[in-house]
Amino acid sequence: MGYHHSLLFLSLLLVVAAARRPEAVVGGWSPIKDLKEPHVAEIANYAVGEYDKRSGAKLKLVKVVKGETQVVAGTNYRLVLAAKDGSATANYEAVVYEKPWLRFRNLTSFVVVGPLS
Ligand SMILES: *[C@@H]1O[C@H](CO)[C@@H](O)[C@H](O)[C@H]1NC(C)=O
Repeated sequence: MGYHHSLLFLSLLLVVAAARRPEAVVGGWSPIKDLKEPHVAEIANYAVGEYDKRSGAKLKLVKVVKGETQVVAGTNYRLVLAAKDGSATANYEAVVYEKPWLRFRNLTSFVVVGPLS
């Protein structure tokens, strides 16, 4: 096969592979079915605690509003959390990266996504 034919063949393979991807796939985000699961609460508490520690804020977790996970080399948790800052409650989006077998956890991102509706 010539160079161009090999390239074309490779592109075709990639297209076919992409089309065959199942829904819950490495790299894709899937919704967390049970937001009340203790481990989800643990991740949420870690996110708020870590954010407070880094920023000097005094947020308190109210509840997990929404959550998704992404399987990479470990798992990314993307949670929408309601948290209290004094008397004001707002929603935050927290991303926590966890490698449970190494007991490694990191808060990758924590941003306010708006007041509680
Ligand atoms: C944790 O995440 C932050 C933000 O992405 C990053 O700057 C930091 O290097 C990470 N820490 C570790 C130990 O990976």
